[in-house]
Amino acid sequence: MCGIVAAAARREVSEILLEGLRRLEYRGYDSAGMALIDNEHNLQLHKQQGKVCELEKAQKLRPHLGCTGIAHTRWATHGEPSGVNAHPHISGQRIALVHNGIIENHMRLREELMAQGYEFASATDTEVVVHLLHRALEGGKSLLKAMQDTVGRLDGAYALAAIDVDHPDQVVAARKGSPLVIGIGIGENFLASDQLALRQVTDRFIFLEEGDVVLISPSTLQIFDQAGAPVERKKSLISEAVEVADLGGFDHYMLKEIHEQPRALAATFAQAANYPGIDECFGAGAGAVFDRVKAVQIVACGTSFHAGMVARYWLEELAGIPCQVEVASEFRYRKRVTHADTLLVTVSQSGETADSLAALRNAQPGEFVASLVVSNVANSSLVRDSDLVFLTKAGMEIGVASTKAFTTQLVGLLMLTVALGRRSSMSEQKQQDVLAALRGLPEYVQQTLELNDDIERLSEAFIPKHHALFLGRGIQYPIAMEGALKLKEISYIHAEAYPAGELKHGPLALVDDDMPVVAVAPSDDLLEKLKSNLEEVRSRGGELFVFADRQAGFKSEARVQVLPMPHCPEVIKPIVYTVALQLLSYHVALQKGTDVDKPRNLAKSVTVE
Ligand code: F6R
Repeated sequence: MCGIVAAAARREVSEILLEGLRRLEYRGYDSAGMALIDNEHNLQLHKQQGKVCELEKAQKLRPHLGCTGIAHTRWATHGEPSGVNAHPHISGQRIALVHNGIIENHMRLREELMAQGYEFASATDTEVVVHLLHRALEGGKSLLKAMQDTVGRLDGAYALAAIDVDHPDQVVAARKGSPLVIGIGIGENFLASDQLALRQVTDRFIFLEEGDVVLISPSTLQIFDQAGAPVERKKSLISEAVEVADLGGFDHYMLKEIHEQPRALAATFAQAANYPGIDECFGAGAGAVFDRVKAVQIVACGTSFHAGMVARYWLEELAGIPCQVEVASEFRYRKRVTHADTLLVTVSQSGETADSLAALRNAQPGEFVASLVVSNVANSSLVRDSDLVFLTKAGMEIGVASTKAFTTQLVGLLMLTVALGRRSSMSEQKQQDVLAALRGLPEYVQQTLELNDDIERLSEAFIPKHHALFLGRGIQYPIAMEGALKLKEISYIHAEAYPAGELKHGPLALVDDDMPVVAVAPSDDLLEKLKSNLEEVRSRGGELFVFADRQAGFKSEARVQVLPMPHCPEVIKPIVYTVALQLLSYHVALQKGTDVDKPRNLAKSVTVE
């Protein structure tokens, strides 16, 4: 999604800005731009649709140099992807501004500004902000005051950074609802929407808080809170090495990340070895919080929501703890009744998903015992705002389709089940069985990865199809949902998941000889029920692709293809079966020739609502 990088230095910054944008590229974007104030105090602007390397080419052909600058990658929300709609936007040839987020009252502001003679070049919501800033500066306000007045007029979410030729060594910025971090240098200061972009120049950061407005120059750094009062914010030193994005011999990041799962799952579970009591894996004070928990509310989006759906089965069946799961975009706006002593659990790979963050922030004081996030990114907004944190050790995930982040989330949630279960009805033996299963998990995932060639062959049947159904029962239903999501997002085949028992209540009408039906069918308590549902499909001519262990007793025959899965402990089956479905969607997408790592219209980190 959109990315911001800004610099106020005494050296030329265009290469720093470009490198910052490169580091944010994996998040998905459609256009890029950069504005600098040159030595003669003129505004220099490059922006265009396409990749950062195109911007780099333009910069090489017609170099713009300057010590103060802003840069942006845009993921279109208002206005199509185009050079005109790309950021920075400018006003009066003196101000340039970049924006992440959405300005909800932009239509009203646009009318107001047009009535005063402002002309709009783009279809974006952002352009109102740069004209508001211009109006305030022309009215004699300082750069800081102009930004404070401007944000006072905005509804919605934003991270903003702007430069003005009349203040040639300063960058003014503000945040509300979208992340923004200051990078502190020596005789220079920086801003970015993610510290990753600035690790090339510093390891010292200040994560800005909601409503903060900030003014940086090479030698000064001033932060003001929502009320306009100067504030000090905590400085953080981030010293762990930056992971370098590298395909490591694989054709795609998604395939690499699928294959990294044995290591990532082992590393995530290894945290339990350091803390045999498990509680400490969730942060200081977790034990005291867990002692009070009587129920769990999980909130997340997309694939992370599916992880929450799986966790509900574990928490209720193994730990006897009531659990509700909801997508964050609904939860945040719903009037709800929360049971006493409920733990709020958000699940988010990026830790920046706008809806999940809003769900956490909108929780009423005292509504929950505490908040806990399961996330893959230390220092992310959700991690900083939550009381307790479980960090998955998936490592950087570049492919837009979440793979290793999902399975490691499941490990974290199963560890949470044990931590809470040992305080309720979960026997010591059961706890030990779950931990032993988690210990053995990487090996079963490795065995599943070795089915790659069989899955590739099976995937061929999907190439000419436009639709697919995924079926599962019980804890495998969310895995069917995850399989369907993976297939639709990277191969663009319309796929839906159903709990198999629901088939006859409507979706069966869709089944004919053109509809592939994927069944997640390990041997478990619901297998016989699932088999009856699959017979309903077969007798209507549907073609079945069954992922099952030998114990489930399926045989490949006409219109039934069985993919023999390893037989593993029941509790980890959802994780092991997920890996096979990831490979299925990867191979379908590969043969369809889609952009596997950057599927159309999607972004890695969804920082807008
Ligand atoms: C799908 C996928 C998305 C994310 C969702 C939430 O493969 O990756 O559905 O799971 O956008 O993102 P996080 O987990 O970062 O909150």
